[in-house]
Amino acid sequence: MSTQRTQVAIIGAGPAGLLLGQLLHRAGIDNVILERQTGDYVLGRIRAGVLEQTTCDLLDEAGVGERMHAEGMVHGGFELCFGGARHRIDMHGLTGGKHVTVYGQTEVTRDLMAARAAAGLPTIYGAKDVAPHGFDTDHPTVSYTLDGVVHTVACDFIAGCDGYHGVSRASVPPKALSIYEKVYQFGWLGVLADTPPVAHELIYSNHERGFALCSMRSTTRTRYYVQCPLHDKVEQWSDAAFWDELRRRLDPAAAEALVTGPSIEKSIAPLRSFVAEPMRFGTLFLAGDSAHIVPPTGAKGLNLAAADVRFLSRAFIEFYAEKSRAGIDHYSEKCLRRVWKAERFSWWFTGLMHKFPETGAIGQKLQRAELDYLVGSRAASTAMAENYVGLPFEA
Ligand code: APR
Ligand code: PHB
Repeated sequence: MSTQRTQVAIIGAGPAGLLLGQLLHRAGIDNVILERQTGDYVLGRIRAGVLEQTTCDLLDEAGVGERMHAEGMVHGGFELCFGGARHRIDMHGLTGGKHVTVYGQTEVTRDLMAARAAAGLPTIYGAKDVAPHGFDTDHPTVSYTLDGVVHTVACDFIAGCDGYHGVSRASVPPKALSIYEKVYQFGWLGVLADTPPVAHELIYSNHERGFALCSMRSTTRTRYYVQCPLHDKVEQWSDAAFWDELRRRLDPAAAEALVTGPSIEKSIAPLRSFVAEPMRFGTLFLAGDSAHIVPPTGAKGLNLAAADVRFLSRAFIEFYAEKSRAGIDHYSEKCLRRVWKAERFSWWFTGLMHKFPETGAIGQKLQRAELDYLVGSRAASTAMAENYVGLPFEA
């Protein structure tokens, strides 16, 4: 048994935990990260790849933006495909010059891990039985087991950045939590391949066979998805079956242009809308997927995690520099206002683009009318663009 002391104990070395650790370090605040998996395991998870401008700014602030600027792809628009044709949403033009950066979450994580290692900051990978204690006091601790030995970290604050299945939210008494949740009745089958992207920008397709998305990681690597039954198994989907299905859900020009190749990763992900309120319990703070999940249609998951971390890092910095608890006290409500707006957008975009057999023919007709309205109305396109590109932070 050993006891170690730090200012902020961070549970989880996903993008939220790593980014928080880096921002705190740059402000001179000590932190330790406890992660149950290995670093390689964390890097093996393929997630979304669209960064809002405010997320890019935060990566710059953390000193890890260099490769993102060099290799990330700046996109000023995306395409909606329906009725056999594509319609561009001119994000840049509709938002007064804003854009997103296409750069994989895996790469963000890799850059953050490298910066943390270069700074010599402590990350305990393979930490088992991680558990937060005493967060109703000003002297919380986190215990964990490594190589059969129990260790304790004494700290001022605990940051629960341990994702949807983490221990942080699970350690809060259920009666202190309000949970809001919707589970969708379908999944996304995703394929990563070393093929050139079918188009310069992302294509979101509403098709009678189901939703499809054409995304990318670089000019030579693509990430494509098709809506699939929730209980399908990856093994049921050969590469050929995937490419056939994707092609059928695109307009004729994109179907013709689609270059196929062997998959290098293939996985099925469920879709969920989830919020746990509040996001602070005494000296325990939830950030990222531990507090909320959005369906991936709006690409908001990582961006929301970054927004939480922005608020949380500022709150801790203010506390240590000015002995002010204002940021800490307002953390939860500030995050949740932004979270709910992103939940709403992601839920709306998911509803617009997917096939919902239960809504029948009228559901399809209404989706089509909304899509026609969306691409035909500058006001509606603007509302979509400003959400997709990322809402501004409240003053
Ligand atoms: N103890 C220690 N670590 C844990 C525990 C635990 N009990 N439970 C989970 N973890 C770790 C996971 O192994 C993972 O590495 O916490 C990390 C959480 O990372 P993410 O799930 O990536 O969550 P977050 O950092 O909030 O990132 C949000 O990532 O999941 C996507 O769509 C999401 O883009 C969003 C972003
Ligand atoms: C991805 O590139 O993986 C991606 C892009 C946009 C989304 C979801 C996923 O909306």
